[in-house]
Amino acid sequence: MATVQMKVSPENLSKVSKGNERIPEPTIIVIFGASGDLTKRKLLPALFHLEQVGLLPREFAIVGVARRPLGDEFAKDMRAGIVESGDIDESDPQLDGFTKKIHYFPMNFDDANGYDGLKAELDKIAKANGIGGNRLFYLATAPEYFTEIIENLGSHGMNKPDQGEVHAVIEKPFGHDLDSARELNHRVNAVFDESQVFRIDHYLGKETVQNILVFRFANGIFEPVWNRNYIEQVQITAAETLGVEGRGPFYEKAGALRDVVQNHVMELLSFVAMEPPVSFESSSVRQEKLKVWQAIPSIPILNAVRGQYGPGKISDKSGDKDVPGYRQEDRVDPNSQTETYAAVKLEIDNWRWAGVPFYLRAGKRLKKRYTEISIEFKQPPLLLFNRAGSSGDCGEIQPNVITMRIQPNEGISLTFGAKVPTTQSMSVCPVNMDFDYAAAFGKSSANGYERLLLDAMLGDQTLFAERDGVELTWALYTPILEAWAAKKPQTFPNYAAGSWGPDCADELLKKDGHLWRKL
Ligand code: BG6
Repeated sequence: MATVQMKVSPENLSKVSKGNERIPEPTIIVIFGASGDLTKRKLLPALFHLEQVGLLPREFAIVGVARRPLGDEFAKDMRAGIVESGDIDESDPQLDGFTKKIHYFPMNFDDANGYDGLKAELDKIAKANGIGGNRLFYLATAPEYFTEIIENLGSHGMNKPDQGEVHAVIEKPFGHDLDSARELNHRVNAVFDESQVFRIDHYLGKETVQNILVFRFANGIFEPVWNRNYIEQVQITAAETLGVEGRGPFYEKAGALRDVVQNHVMELLSFVAMEPPVSFESSSVRQEKLKVWQAIPSIPILNAVRGQYGPGKISDKSGDKDVPGYRQEDRVDPNSQTETYAAVKLEIDNWRWAGVPFYLRAGKRLKKRYTEISIEFKQPPLLLFNRAGSSGDCGEIQPNVITMRIQPNEGISLTFGAKVPTTQSMSVCPVNMDFDYAAAFGKSSANGYERLLLDAMLGDQTLFAERDGVELTWALYTPILEAWAAKKPQTFPNYAAGSWGPDCADELLKKDGHLWRKL
């Protein structure tokens, strides 16, 4: 398919407003579960990048909290993680200065006395660095520790210091079904006011996800056709080539619907489907997202399908490699019933979307890593260039599709039909108008955590999940999870690693005369 590229001119790039950056007040970031992968691979590199671009306050400290007695090793390990994460020179003096701000406090999360020690340590670090009372508690632990930590912070008076702001960031998964999410909300809100709570979904930190709102609401051309009158169907795909990567015990309890669909995919859906908010204030944006989820009727069980990968071949930069099936992965039950793929059809019963099917799919060990949203438009009412023959080698005339590539190859494309240059016929072939982030702006987007960490320090909740939202999305998926738990799948494994998922997912769309997009 032919493609036209779009590029932002250097003059326009240089006009991007400078001086509007918001820098948080002096803060200590306390990361619980700091010895885990997330801290080293994502959080610390994101914080260092914020430091590099001057978005961190000068008086700032990071305190890692975990069980292991790591001492200074922690800061060294984090430094190595920052270097591994990108084009950072190991001898960068800024990195030396940043490493000095990294501290470690060993503690068992269930040891109430440990919190007294932690509080004293934070006060000491604050005093030595002129930080004052601002604290950002980041819960990056396994979910079973969330309430214990929150309640201990409360009972040790760390939820409301006398001077300063205290915010709590809580990683996903936020609950594992509707009841547990409600219970967690209840216990979190017994300690922290909702304005202090930041339920993180790293997808909302991705530039391409925020750009969905810019694409829709900063341009006049798309919104008039962004509705049931013009749109035939919407597909959201979150496909990964990775397997469970050593997270067997976690994934066994989660599965694809809990791990990715209930949160990341539903966040994408809300941005695609919401009405224009009255402003870009947190409460207005969140209100519009809630309305989308409220308008989704319960999903019939027949509209949800699941799969589990068997052994197969995955292709990556290093070539083809044989990979084991899910049941052969480390610390996974050899008879596991956990789904590594889930696909769902749902509808949104409101004036904008009634009758438009939304197809969502997410899975591990699929053929390609691809997260994208595709909006397929209806065909014109009268096809002048008739289907048989005149479209020539390009087959049937294709509908217009807007594709938002969340990752990789971040960008947006519009597919439309163009006349093939030939004097003999009116042949129509699909061509692409393509916007590519890296080509247009000369850089690829950040890892998502930068924006979210900054917003959490600044107290901006716009890009965080809120209490009612997580309950609404769990309410939609809990009946499916219960039905699946009650009826063991007979056919698992039902797709080969490196394929596009199980046949039942194709059947789901075929019933409506649709097909999954070929990625
Ligand atoms: C996490 C899931 O939330 O998101 C992982 O727990 C998944 O299983 C990951 O791999 C995907 O994130 P990204 O940013 O790589 O698409």
